[in-house]
Amino acid sequence: MQGANRLWMSLIGVNVIVIGFVAYSAMAPGALTKTMLMPGKTSHGHYQIEMRCDVCHTEGSGIREDACLDCHAEELRRANDTHPSSKFNDPTNAELLSILDAQNCLSCHREHVDEQTLPMGLTMPSDYCYHCHQETLTTRPSHANFAFDSCATAGCHNYHDNRALYENFLNKHADEPDFLDEMVRLTRSTPTPPESKRLTKSNADAPEDWPTDETILDDWASTAHAAAGVNCGDCHSIKDKDAPKSDKNNEPRWSQSVALATCGECHQNEAETFLQGHHGMRLAQDLPAMTPGESRIAMHTDAAHRTLDCNACHSGHRFDTEYASVEACLSCHNDEHSQSFLGTSHHDAWIKELAGEAPRGSGVTCATCHMPRIEDEGGDRFVQHNQNDNLRPNEKMIREVCMNCHGLAFSIDALADSQLVKECFATAPSIHIESVDLARARFEEKQRKKEARLKKK
Ligand code: HEC
Ligand code: HEC
Ligand code: HEC
Ligand code: HEC
Ligand code: HEC
Ligand code: HEC
Ligand code: HEC
Ligand code: HEC
Ligand code: HEC
Ligand code: HEC
Repeated sequence: MQGANRLWMSLIGVNVIVIGFVAYSAMAPGALTKTMLMPGKTSHGHYQIEMRCDVCHTEGSGIREDACLDCHAEELRRANDTHPSSKFNDPTNAELLSILDAQNCLSCHREHVDEQTLPMGLTMPSDYCYHCHQETLTTRPSHANFAFDSCATAGCHNYHDNRALYENFLNKHADEPDFLDEMVRLTRSTPTPPESKRLTKSNADAPEDWPTDETILDDWASTAHAAAGVNCGDCHSIKDKDAPKSDKNNEPRWSQSVALATCGECHQNEAETFLQGHHGMRLAQDLPAMTPGESRIAMHTDAAHRTLDCNACHSGHRFDTEYASVEACLSCHNDEHSQSFLGTSHHDAWIKELAGEAPRGSGVTCATCHMPRIEDEGGDRFVQHNQNDNLRPNEKMIREVCMNCHGLAFSIDALADSQLVKECFATAPSIHIESVDLARARFEEKQRKKEARLKKK
């Protein structure tokens, strides 16, 4: 065989191996081969589900057209997105697309490019706002001296979510004190179930051959579950729902493990939101539950093999929400911010609430900020179990959480102070963001002009 031919054959050989490899790994769930096919590390937002190439990619190596919006459309809608695609259908704005294709998520959020990925999956330098908004520096005297890359500075503007930063909103809340007179957040609204529903230990319906552990019985009997008539079987018995009605042998099977879907039958909002954040996103994609050992942020080493499901915080049969709000979190999380919490005035306020020395809802726990009780659009109150929903950009916490107790300007300053976030808000903020002052000045100026005009008339 001649040299060139031999090269050809070996190239074909390599190709066959590569194609075979690609085809094999597309079908096999083999984690190692899949990882090897990735062009680079995935971002903080998606690494947990990186094995599910198919949620973003078509069968070739293309990107599925609606991949990003399939998972994020609802969140951006709720955020009242400042730059939705539709804004650029307007002919005057459409011209701007030649500067940057703002209708394509990938213009700003690429994937597998670790070395150029900033927080929030951003793969775009922060000066790009200027290219579409240059005129602001001339039309707004207050902005004349701002650096061209400062628009998206914390506490000034966001690209998507400006709900806490709109001028009208800033102006409306400009005069609030740092600490509001009445400091409380939403509390539980479920009515106490009628006493007739309450179950006691003697009502437990578990089969006789089950471990009749006294602590299980005591714990269960002391919970909201027993009080509301939820018996062992409601969590532990599984009926084959697909079995024909005539099947008299369809006796429930008893299982000592409880599926998340079982909890979800009675707690739909909690189960759904749990699956959307970093705690539950693996389960949402039919992958094994996340464990602290695989985390990219600091965790206690002795928690490395625990699994992230409902029991991670609602352990045993006590379903104790006070335990779930702080101690549970600290049994896994071990970063500087989390560790600092116990030394803050927020934690002091929680201790006071627990001791009955302060009103219900006046204390602050990890859950107050990360898993706030919210009202859905239909008015149902529930605990947000997606702890990423308000995490980044952190101004998302302002309206939902901080403003239950603090003024707007104080909240903006505190969240923009990254050192203070690290210390978990142990002291007063040491920086000041001018947003509220600028909005107030602008509205006052408008008012003065209006009055002057009226006087002339
Ligand atoms: C969260 C979504 C997401 C997941 C999950 C994901 N990717 Fe990607 N991938 C992307 C995006 C977005 C790009 C385009 C990056 C760009 O344009 O710079 C990409 C690009 C690629 C490319 C380069 C293709 C090209 O046309 O340039 C390969 C190869 C690739 N991904 C393989 C994988 C494999 C293998 C997996 C699973 C192990 C995977 N990806 C999982 C979003 C994802
Ligand atoms: C299968 C669902 C899914 C798909 C597909 C998906 N994402 Fe995500 N994304 C998530 C989840 C879950 C998170 C983590 C929770 C959160 O931050 O809201 C996340 C997080 C993010 C974040 C925040 C990252 C951070 O560090 O705060 C950005 C930005 C993002 N996704 C953009 C995209 C873009 C752009 C695409 C399309 C290439 C995409 N996502 C595709 C589910 C998805
Ligand atoms: C012009 C750049 C740009 C484009 C295009 C873009 N984003 Fe973003 N995205 C950002 C910036 C900047 C942030 C950081 C937070 C902010 O400023 O709003 C961000 C943050 C996010 C977040 C984190 C949560 C949040 O509410 O901010 C998600 C999720 C997200 N983008 C998804 C998307 C999706 C999905 C698309 C496509 C429909 C998209 N982005 C298009 C610039 C962009
Ligand atoms: C591709 C061009 C483009 C880029 C890039 C861009 N914007 Fe915009 N922005 C627009 C358009 C178009 C509007 C809508 C203007 C309108 O409704 O008249 C807008 C509106 C806004 C508004 C709302 C103004 C209001 O009063 O409703 C804010 C705030 C804003 N942008 C901030 C930013 C920030 C911060 C960045 C960078 C992170 C950015 N923009 C990047 C085109 C862009
Ligand atoms: C609200 C749901 C719920 C109710 C009601 C409930 N359990 Fe459980 N039970 C669980 C969960 C969750 C686990 C942990 C399962 C797992 O690890 O997957 C569990 C585990 C168990 C186990 C396994 C051993 C252990 O301690 O983990 C036994 C035995 C048990 N339950 C008995 C009972 C008995 C008896 C009752 C009634 C008195 C009862 N359960 C009521 C949810 C419930
Ligand atoms: C048959 C329905 C049902 C099932 C199944 C169920 N629960 Fe409940 N759960 C209730 C009711 C009713 C209450 C009391 C009223 C309320 O909070 O909605 C309750 C209350 C709770 C509370 C609040 C406890 C407190 O002290 O205030 C938690 C936490 C909880 N459930 C978690 C779970 C978890 C986790 C599972 C699955 C292991 C589960 N539940 C399964 C019906 C159920
Ligand atoms: C990361 C910890 C954590 C995990 C995991 C978790 N929860 Fe919770 N859950 C909490 C905390 C904290 C509260 C109480 C918050 C409060 O009262 O302020 C709570 C409260 C609840 C409540 C009471 C709601 C109310 O209105 O008072 C229910 C029901 C519940 N969780 C169900 C679930 C279910 C179902 C799962 C699994 C899908 C789950 N939880 C997983 C931390 C968690
Ligand atoms: C069983 C261990 C465990 C418990 C208990 C737990 N977490 Fe987590 N938490 C994790 C893991 C693992 C992650 C994923 C980290 C990652 O994606 O790198 C996570 C992620 C988070 C994130 C998102 C971090 C990020 O950068 O996106 C927040 C916020 C968070 N947890 C808060 C809490 C709070 C608040 C509680 C208590 C109510 C709690 N966690 C209870 C293990 C736990
Ligand atoms: C007063 C509100 C507040 C309290 C209380 C609070 N946090 Fe946070 N937490 C935040 C904010 C704000 C961030 C930063 C988000 C950002 O800017 O990236 C954050 C970030 C985090 C992160 C992500 C860290 C990372 O590196 O990605 C974790 C995990 C977390 N908090 C866990 C906890 C735990 C556990 C507790 C209780 C021990 C707690 N937090 C108490 C507001 C709070
Ligand atoms: C349920 C009410 C409540 C909520 C919600 C709340 N706080 Fe606080 N905050 C307090 C109380 C009470 C104090 C302690 C006041 C005192 O020392 O007398 C405090 C203190 C602080 C301090 C320290 C001030 C100082 O001078 O030492 C900071 C910073 C702070 N909060 C920031 C925040 C931020 C940011 C949020 C939202 C992510 C938030 N808080 C949510 C009630 C709350």
